Amino acid sequence: MTAAAYDAVASRYAEQFRDTLSDRPLERALLRAFAELVRTNGIGEVADLGCGPGQITAHLGGLGLKAFGVDASPAMVRLAREAHPGLRFEHGSMAALDIADGSLGGVLARWSVIHTPPEGLPAVLAEIGRVLAPGGHLLISLFATDDPSIPCQSYDHSVVTAYRWSPDHLAGMLREVGMGEVARILCEPRPTDRRQFQELQLLARKG
Ligand SMILES: C[S@@+](CC[C@H](N)C(=O)[O-])C[C@H]1O[C@@H](n2cnc3c(N)ncnc32)[C@H](O)[C@@H]1O
Repeated sequence: MTAAAYDAVASRYAEQFRDTLSDRPLERALLRAFAELVRTNGIGEVADLGCGPGQITAHLGGLGLKAFGVDASPAMVRLAREAHPGLRFEHGSMAALDIADGSLGGVLARWSVIHTPPEGLPAVLAEIGRVLAPGGHLLISLFATDDPSIPCQSYDHSVVTAYRWSPDHLAGMLREVGMGEVARILCEPRPTDRRQFQELQLLARKG
């Protein structure tokens, strides 16, 4: 359902978010730090899970990472391949990755677990933990709940229902699957943002 919904909007999404990092200096800094940590550890490739049209996969490549993308939407994968012919993009689900155990130096999950129903998120996080090498890093982004004591809340999303999470609860679920929190950034919404939710970027490390 999520894949079909993104298929239907893929071209529009690619156009709208082509330069999405240009006015996000904090996120660019965090992606640089993520890339430096992965490079320093010198372990394996980086998967951009739910990569959409691949613009962030390409950004990671520009930061010196051997990055590839995975997405459940065939249209997104096609657009990503067309826009970035030098990079690898695979069709697949975050819940069942065709990636060997402990083989990745890093995983980016940027706004891609937001559509996973709450009961399915622990399994997706476990799958990410499975494919990361010890010492590998995960950078994950989603909206935070307003009240941190509320673990999860759904919200209207123009493509398909989405979920926001309490940062502590997300960190706890990551701990359960062997990933410890390294850092978190909570960005206040900008006045022009459609949704007035805090944006969470959480960096975690396996092992
Ligand atoms: C909001 S878009 C984010 C795209 C990209 N990460 C970005 O930052 O622009 C969410 C993407 O995640 C993909 N996605 C959602 N659930 C997925 C799953 N279970 N497995 C793989 N991709 C998924 C969707 O197809 C869509 O391309």
